[in-house]
Amino acid sequence: MSATLIDGKAVSQKIKSGIAERVERLAARGIVPGLAVVLVGDDPASHTYVTSKKRTCEALGMRSDLLQFPASMSEEDLLELIGNLNRDPEIHGILVQLPLPDHIDEFKVIVAIDPEKDVDGFHPVSVGNMSIGREAFLPCTPHGILKLLEEYEIDPAGKHAVVIGRSNIVGKPAGVLLLQKDATVTYCHSKTRDLKNFTRQADILISAIGRAKFLGKDHLKDGAVVIDVGMNRDENGKLCGDVDFDDVLGTASYITPVPGGVGPMTIAMLMENTLLSAERGSTETK
Ligand code: GUN
Repeated sequence: MSATLIDGKAVSQKIKSGIAERVERLAARGIVPGLAVVLVGDDPASHTYVTSKKRTCEALGMRSDLLQFPASMSEEDLLELIGNLNRDPEIHGILVQLPLPDHIDEFKVIVAIDPEKDVDGFHPVSVGNMSIGREAFLPCTPHGILKLLEEYEIDPAGKHAVVIGRSNIVGKPAGVLLLQKDATVTYCHSKTRDLKNFTRQADILISAIGRAKFLGKDHLKDGAVVIDVGMNRDENGKLCGDVDFDDVLGTASYITPVPGGVGPMTIAMLMENTLLSAERGSTETK
């Protein structure tokens, strides 16, 4: 038996079609959802990500302002820019691409963003609301993972979900959202002893560690659902995940490919958050 592929590209296309229709409805009322993407410095991976975010925005009829600055930008100037974007009624979402240069305090930047425009879901108000199950902008990658599970009718309730990685962007919130779907959640990380002991118990295994082909069939229980968030290069420079895809195909029941799994979902969820923000703003009396 070979694992079923979880086609993130196809699912994200479906979501994006729905978004494009809602954007048209807003346009009829003179509202164009606007996303400001801020990039400081010249990290090549970040550059690729933000370009792709901008392109997708425009393809869906939304406005996207890509604001690029040199790595020497001061923290003060960045905070001032965010203040201006917070006050700009045509901007519904603000995303500051991480990581930031070392001299800029990431936390100060994240808390400077108006939570109503926090389409990344990184502000402590968003994280807090998410953690207690209140309405919040959900962080895009974990939200995308949950959408993929839903689409393939994989119900986390009662299942053992093992999350490898504890970043604020992916691992931690992925565990929180799975817990809210009634999974039993275990977090593993770089200090975990005997990783296999945990991963072999996983009904759903989420990997967000960033090590090429690190996990093989020896890490899996028969029939596990494998969600690979890794975005790495293999020894030949080819894009690959944290999971040795060919090795686990005969053991996993479902698996996300890299590329074409989780990646496209992250962008779709960002678009959805931006649209939601614009829809919310349009129903308020200001
Ligand atoms: N860097 C890596 N992933 C992300 C993300 O989802 N949002 C932002 N702002 N920066 C990132």
